Amino acid sequence: MPICARIHPSPSNEGRAEMVTADHVIADLGKLQRSGAAFEEVLEAAVRGLHELDDRFHWTGIYELFPDNVLRLGPFIGAPTDHVFIGVGRGVCGTAVAERRNINVPDVRLESNYLACSTETRSELVILIRRGERIYAQVDIDSHQVAAFDESSVACVQRVADWLAALYESRDRLGRAP
Ligand code: SME
Repeated sequence: MPICARIHPSPSNEGRAEMVTADHVIADLGKLQRSGAAFEEVLEAAVRGLHELDDRFHWTGIYELFPDNVLRLGPFIGAPTDHVFIGVGRGVCGTAVAERRNINVPDVRLESNYLACSTETRSELVILIRRGERIYAQVDIDSHQVAAFDESSVACVQRVADWLAALYESRDRLGRAP
């Protein structure tokens, strides 16, 4: 059981506490997609689901990679940020794309290539939404807590990101690339 699972009183469960896990998030996203929801609506739901996985996630968003090598902010939850456009190679987000890897920064105060979103942020996680070599987007999560992203919370975010990568891929196959 992933530790990022969070206890929620659920309206669908008459207010009784229930465990919300990456599995629940993915199952709900699948239902939404099959109901014919728009791509953007599914992305928004993914951000909500991710954000609710862990109390330590204080800002959760998706940046999409466009063909001009600029990341553009998509749906997010948390304080508004000045960093709506981020060039590949800039900040933690742009570096993750440039180096084609996920980045987990335990303490942003020690990171030289960091673009501040909020002065309260202490740690940051970037997980790429990718299928093989193709990077579509990324999940970016900030926490006010130092080293908030442990192995199991990273694994949970990764599972949702992988589901989203399949969604982006199928959108591309249908000819609706960004
Ligand atoms: N901190 C990120 C910028 C995005 S905001 O945190 C939302 C970075 O260094 O790329």
